[in-house]
Amino acid sequence: MIEVNNVHKKFNQKVVLKGIHLKISKGEIFGLLGPSGAGKTTLIKILTGQLEFEEGSVKILNKSVKELTGEDRKKLGIMMEQFGLYDRFSCMDNLKIFAEIYRIPYNKVKESLSMVGLEAAAKIPACKLSKGMRSRLQLARVFMHTPQIIFLDEPTSGLDPATSRAIHQMIIAKKEEGCTIFLTTHDMEEATKLCDHVALLNEGKIVEYGSPQEICTKYNHQKRIRLRLYDGRNLDFAHAKDSASEIYSLLLKEQVETIHSSEPNLETVFLELTGRCLQDNE
Ligand SMILES: Nc1ncnc2c1ncn2[C@@H]1O[C@H](COP(=O)(O)OP(=O)(O)OP(=O)(O)O)[C@@H](O)[C@H]1O
Ligand SMILES: [Mg+2]
Repeated sequence: MIEVNNVHKKFNQKVVLKGIHLKISKGEIFGLLGPSGAGKTTLIKILTGQLEFEEGSVKILNKSVKELTGEDRKKLGIMMEQFGLYDRFSCMDNLKIFAEIYRIPYNKVKESLSMVGLEAAAKIPACKLSKGMRSRLQLARVFMHTPQIIFLDEPTSGLDPATSRAIHQMIIAKKEEGCTIFLTTHDMEEATKLCDHVALLNEGKIVEYGSPQEICTKYNHQKRIRLRLYDGRNLDFAHAKDSASEIYSLLLKEQVETIHSSEPNLETVFLELTGRCLQDNE
């Protein structure tokens, strides 16, 4: 669905993407993770034909991104800041304009507004929406038609947990319909929960790629098993055959309150690879 080969991008003299390679299959949720300034939005703009690039190639829907027609673009759904909303128009009118352009029946407008919980805000102009409401309106717009690929630039950034969860459900529902999803995030929990594959982007380079679980397992250097017992003791075992009988006997005596293996999370892996946190500069 998406193939990126050796893409380089410069702004003036500053190189912001340095040889990006990616392959994203149909029906997967792909997450691009990286701190502020890593180049995530720049890459989305390149993949959606909003930005030229100096070197490399990008194929979307089996075509070079440079050759996408208006009809091809209708197969893409794009949600990013400052994209596709008319500030002075109401939520309802924003969606109606979009429905008009994409020849979507009007009954879908109401349906989409209620799907993102914005029925009550139907008449409010887009410029008066809170950040979360604005994000939901953008999602309603993206989800209203049936795109084959959806690009979501930080879909839940700054949203409350309940709204984020609702958005996660919508993303998963789209995947189940066969849609391919490309999202960017700073949030490793979101990525771990949603994504089939992630790439960690730092200063314009992909420093790691894989499923969240593969990556975390790969960087599990310590290989420990940690137990917390009901009597308050914390025990630490090597993740090895020799520990089995002792752990087994504690389990048998019902002394174990929690048991954890020591693999890192994506945040810790990112820190190890780059010396930076995903959330820095926020
Ligand atoms: N139009 C532009 N002109 C010049 N420099 C730009 C432009 N757009 C982005 N940049 C620079 O490119 C780099 C990458 O920016 P980008 O917006 O892609 O980062 P990001 O990973 O999306 O960050 P964030 O998480 O803050 O959204 C930054 O150093 C930014 O200053
Ligand atoms: Mg960005």
